[in-house]
Amino acid sequence: MQKIDIKKALAEQAEVVNGRIKAVLEQWTGIPKRLADAIDYVLAAPGKRVRAAIVLWCCRLVAGKENNDALNAAAAIEMVHTYSLVHDDLPAMDDDDFRRGRPSCHKAFDEATAILTGDALLTMAFEVIAANISNAPKAVAMIKVLAEAAGPAGMIAGQVNDLAAQNGSNNSKELHDIHINKTAKMFRASSLLGAIVADADEKQKEILAAFGLTLGLGFQVADDIIDVSSTSQQLGKTAGKDAKQGKLTYPAIFGLEESRKNAQKIAHKAIEMLEPFGDKAAMLKELALALVDRTK
Ligand code: IPE
Ligand code: IPE
Ligand code: MG
Ligand code: MG
Ligand code: MG
Repeated sequence: MQKIDIKKALAEQAEVVNGRIKAVLEQWTGIPKRLADAIDYVLAAPGKRVRAAIVLWCCRLVAGKENNDALNAAAAIEMVHTYSLVHDDLPAMDDDDFRRGRPSCHKAFDEATAILTGDALLTMAFEVIAANISNAPKAVAMIKVLAEAAGPAGMIAGQVNDLAAQNGSNNSKELHDIHINKTAKMFRASSLLGAIVADADEKQKEILAAFGLTLGLGFQVADDIIDVSSTSQQLGKTAGKDAKQGKLTYPAIFGLEESRKNAQKIAHKAIEMLEPFGDKAAMLKELALALVDRTK
């Protein structure tokens, strides 16, 4: 089998989704100039576009190729994700002045603009799906998946509990729940959206949803690890912040070595879930390994 260059593959997918995001923004009319500038600023910043790649590769896995619905879903999930970062960086939350190698939105603009930019991105994502997905029942199913993942029993729950656990909890069950909610559910949404746009059957959807959730957990464990072991330059966001802010993280509870082992274990669990797809899942398996063994 040909060796996969996962970094190159991810960079290619990022280009593809960046093109779709740009096209979506170009068509949008009536946005006040300052808000439009802020939306452009945060969406044009170099995100890894991992969630988009998961949508596209899950679609390809099931349908044999990507399609227009997958591209719109990929753009939409990156918009929701980018909103979550803009708000996560606000002084009232993690208070980080850097994101994707640039001043955070509230630094480049101002706090009110950052709040409203997040609001706009979240809303726009749902319009992208409602207005562009090829058939209505599919669009409704996708909106439901994304809303549940990003909503008050999903990512927002994780963010609320992440803040509440600061300088307090030392509980590994609570940590696991926070990571599932704040990050893994959006990964689950990514893989499930990919499955839906590919007309996957129920069994395939179930497998890919479980894969996405596990992948997302591993991704957040790795995020905790690189906060300790990478530099701000590598990360494009402020390193060493979690310990300073007393965040409940894997390294804080288990130490770096144990956290690394844990992340590997989670990645291998995710990979095993893809066995029913055989060799066709090679790219997603590589991705699972790459995401827990990253420096940025
Ligand atoms: C950062 O996500 C926030 C987490 C959920 C860990 P990413 O590491 O995917 O950030 P970008 O999109 O590449 O900037
Ligand atoms: C953020 O987790 C998860 C989100 C939902 C945005 P973190 O607070 O650890 O993300 P970073 O490290 O700031 O990117
Ligand atoms: Mg946070
Ligand atoms: Mg943060
Ligand atoms: Mg982090």
